[in-house]
Amino acid sequence: MTHFPRQIIIDTDPGQDDAVAILLALASPELEVLGITTVAGNVPLALTSLNARRVCELAKRSDVAVFAGCHQPLKRALVTAENVHGKTGLDGIELPEPIMPLQSMHAVDFMIETLRQAPEKTITLCSLGPMTNTAQALMQAPDIASRIERIVLMGGGFFEGGNITPSAEFNMYVDPEAAQIVFASGIPLTVIPLDVTHQALTSKQWLDDLRAMNNQVGTAVAAWTDFFERYDREKYGSEGAPLHDPCVIAYLIQPELFSGRWVNVEIETNSALTLGATVVDWWRVTDRKANAEFLRHINRDGFFQLLSHRLASYE
Ligand code: RIB
Ligand code: CA
Repeated sequence: MTHFPRQIIIDTDPGQDDAVAILLALASPELEVLGITTVAGNVPLALTSLNARRVCELAKRSDVAVFAGCHQPLKRALVTAENVHGKTGLDGIELPEPIMPLQSMHAVDFMIETLRQAPEKTITLCSLGPMTNTAQALMQAPDIASRIERIVLMGGGFFEGGNITPSAEFNMYVDPEAAQIVFASGIPLTVIPLDVTHQALTSKQWLDDLRAMNNQVGTAVAAWTDFFERYDREKYGSEGAPLHDPCVIAYLIQPELFSGRWVNVEIETNSALTLGATVVDWWRVTDRKANAEFLRHINRDGFFQLLSHRLASYE
């Protein structure tokens, strides 16, 4: 059962696309952000924790509680993506050092305590990075699994393949054991994979419209996108950057923008060749239990209309 506003926790590794997702969430009255938990991913934890606060202050929302989480995957060395996001993780525009403090509580403890104190199935978890924090919370407090309304995550790829290896998407690849724990948890999952986010490509017109908004947020998002898209343009020859993580927030606001199917999704954790791959039984050729809503299509124009409308609401 979802309430209005829908209460969410955003677990994130900012990253320019994470930043846009956070800005979309904070500008949407349909959502109440209970807290932001940071994880190591695109850049190390110290930077993702700094960047999350930079974005909250850009949104003039220093009231949002930001909690630092796990600094490395459950069982593996951290793999980061400065080649995509720059050395700060938010390259493209200089943002001031944040004044708002990090919360003293660990992100995993925040997740556990918040879920235990809230009525069952009233909190949605939005996972925008490697799933280390969520898996750690489930290992420490298995009882929370039944309390989470749904996990909506950006991760994986099937028809589209991978983006860090031929078969794995970054968030799944960085911590495949964490992803496996989440996908085996029985928690209702909505997976927003590269199959969807590679359709959510920015355009020059959209960037021009952002700059014409004449607000700090529009200017920042345009500058981040300019930086972020150079990687995908070189790699895929695509015009525009894939706005991966904002798709998670857009799904919560307008799920009708997306379509997919309820299937079995497993995570490869053993093969060096396909580590982190999301193995999707799209055609139901196995008797493996369906455990996730795996999305495959997005109404691209509707998505960017929603995003522009909400970003324009900032002063
Ligand atoms: O593969 C894309 C995902 O990895 C996005 O969440 C991006 O921010 C990085 O975390
Ligand atoms: Ca991310």
